[in-house]
Amino acid sequence: MYETKIGGIELINEASDLIKSGEVVAFPTETVYGLGANALDKNAVKKIFIAKNRPSDNPLIVHVANIEQAKRFAYVNKDAKNLFDKFSPGPLTIVLPKKSIVPAEVTGDIQTVGIRIPDNKIALELIRISDCPLAAPSANTSKKVSPTTAQHVLDDMNGKIPLILDGGECKVGIESTVLSLAEEIPTILRPGGITIEMLTEVLPRVKNHTGEIKVAQAPGMKYKHYAPTVEECIMFDDISNGTKYYDNVISKGKKAIMVVTTDTISKIGKRNFADVGNSGEDVAHNVFRVLRECEKKYDCILIQKLPSTGIYASVMNRLTKSTSDKTV
Ligand code: TXA
Ligand code: MG
Repeated sequence: MYETKIGGIELINEASDLIKSGEVVAFPTETVYGLGANALDKNAVKKIFIAKNRPSDNPLIVHVANIEQAKRFAYVNKDAKNLFDKFSPGPLTIVLPKKSIVPAEVTGDIQTVGIRIPDNKIALELIRISDCPLAAPSANTSKKVSPTTAQHVLDDMNGKIPLILDGGECKVGIESTVLSLAEEIPTILRPGGITIEMLTEVLPRVKNHTGEIKVAQAPGMKYKHYAPTVEECIMFDDISNGTKYYDNVISKGKKAIMVVTTDTISKIGKRNFADVGNSGEDVAHNVFRVLRECEKKYDCILIQKLPSTGIYASVMNRLTKSTSDKTV
């Protein structure tokens, strides 16, 4: 057990000393908080899996400060260089053939590695002063919603890690786009902050992943993700179906809440609601925080279905999993 310390940038040297001595530290990124360790130290990396309770075959993203550093760990081809130039630092992870310096523990023993340059001052500074790449998954307990504040991290990791660097609320709010360039056609394995529309401008051949995912392609996809810990989490498309369902839950003496966009609030009458904002950016920024707040107080979370374009599509990807694709 650790006595978990939490603080801002003033703790960065302490955080870096911990990383250098093989410990795990939580740090902010622009997407969600990460649980970082020296990617070249396999024993440190193993501690990440333990703290998260994560299966060891689900690979970690390696966070670096710039393209030059990326080239030490992966074979960065022309397409990857162009994408990093355009979108990094930023919410894009590129899966590339890995170099042998990256321990098998980081990638779950597969031959590719996801590389990302985060757009966050604290994250970049931590990588720089620790003088190593940081292997880091999202800093939640496995199967829970990703953390977008230091308090969320503490809720999941208290006693399990020595230090949380607090950088305030994460700007983007959902995880990075994972794009594989290790296949014949560039494939989005996980939609995120950089949308397919944005990627297509640089790489017209890019496609969304459809159908069965092979284990070696996206090992993480076979695990259930982003599930709020409530009895029932369900999506609604038609507003009257949603309110009817809500009323039925309430009539059984249970507590329900509707998670809606600002424009929808006036249409659901006097029912409990959580407002996620209107624009895709606002919804992405708010959605995980709202789910974490709702799961503490309600038995049933009813989430409004969103459009399937732009960053809404990335949010919908998470919500489909949260609700096990159940719609009323
Ligand atoms: O925004 C983010 O990506 C955050 C921040 C902390 O950087 N990190 C994050 O990591 O979300 P994680 O481990 O929670 O999700 C990474 C996803 C997993 O589904 C994993 O299976 C997949 O990316 N992944 C990582 N390396 C891969 C690889 N070499 N091939 C295929 N999928 C990979
Ligand atoms: Mg995660």
